[in-house]
Amino acid sequence: MLAARPPLGWNSWNTFGADVNETVVLEAAEALVRTGLRESGYLYVVIDDVWQADTRTTGGELQADPDKFPRGIGPLAQDIHAMGLQFGIYTCAGTHTCADRVASYGHEWEDARTFAGWGVDFLKVDFCNVPPGVDGPMLYHRMGQALRESGREIVFSACEWGIQQPWKWGRAAGCHLWRTTGDIGDGWESILRIGFRNVADWAAYGGPNGWNDLDMLVVGIRGGGNVGQDHCTDAEYRVHFAQWCLQASPLMIGCDLRQATAGDIALLGHAGLLEINQDPLGVSARRIAPAEDLWDWADLPVYRKPMADGSLAIGIFNLTERDRKFLSVAWETLGLRPDQPYRVTDVIAGQPLGTHRGSIAVPVAAHDVAVLRLFPVAGP
Ligand code: GLA
Repeated sequence: MLAARPPLGWNSWNTFGADVNETVVLEAAEALVRTGLRESGYLYVVIDDVWQADTRTTGGELQADPDKFPRGIGPLAQDIHAMGLQFGIYTCAGTHTCADRVASYGHEWEDARTFAGWGVDFLKVDFCNVPPGVDGPMLYHRMGQALRESGREIVFSACEWGIQQPWKWGRAAGCHLWRTTGDIGDGWESILRIGFRNVADWAAYGGPNGWNDLDMLVVGIRGGGNVGQDHCTDAEYRVHFAQWCLQASPLMIGCDLRQATAGDIALLGHAGLLEINQDPLGVSARRIAPAEDLWDWADLPVYRKPMADGSLAIGIFNLTERDRKFLSVAWETLGLRPDQPYRVTDVIAGQPLGTHRGSIAVPVAAHDVAVLRLFPVAGP
């Protein structure tokens, strides 16, 4: 299985946008190694849009912009492989990409062969400039087939923004991940829109070899880059990262790793959260009904992710403006027997919280989250 766990890596778009070039890609790859994030599992180094030259070669092949990638793509892919990393690139299902570069419509087979020849391990396929009347899912089926016939194993990432419910047809088309929404921005409203207001529909469809992709991470962007807005606080980045882990979303770092703070690297490499994200069961967390009749329960959601070892991962979110001293979760609402004792750990702090029966309450500050693991113990 090519994507038995959600793929992890780095993508150029959120920081560099159209200013991507060989130097920044190599420096991002070096930073993955230097920071230890490669060892945490972030393997794919993905060049997003605007790597292409204005035209195809006379032979009809895609080619790189010679100013940005003077050696072409193949040698760069080799360098990335030599660092123990995997190499990814971008094209579009339409005639042109979203940034108006040449794309793969009607050239799927030759482009898949070109990518395979360059040593591409991961291909993101966007959805701009599809000719009117052309069936979108069919285009992904076509590229999926072309990739299977390319002679190389390539992870296929569909970026169709969720408009035709790709979670329903993505697997059949050969996609290993599919975007669930439009583009993320570095701001609280964007995290709420993508990570919380839109989750129910597709959660049941994600799993090994076919993941719901909530879009690339904004952790560490801090208002800079290509998707800078009002920018998230540290706590808001925690909410974002924890929810992407609970949802078993692919995690593509979007910040400039050369300048990331130690705190940002620590969050991106958090072993306890990544363990939840990478769990082999591959379940996307589902929201549970609120335990209490709180007027603002919609903004205090609890998410539940069953883990392969029989434990539960729980996210208790405070999306309100007010700190809470106690947010409680009852075993019954988690689908657990009330008299069954569970050993509880605070995942983010890495602290044991003791053994509990019936319910547990934890403090959660405004725009923050508590992530717990509940391990059944012998009893009652
Ligand atoms: C679309 C995608 C983004 C990014 C840009 C590049 O907006 O959704 O993730 O790839 O195109 O132009």
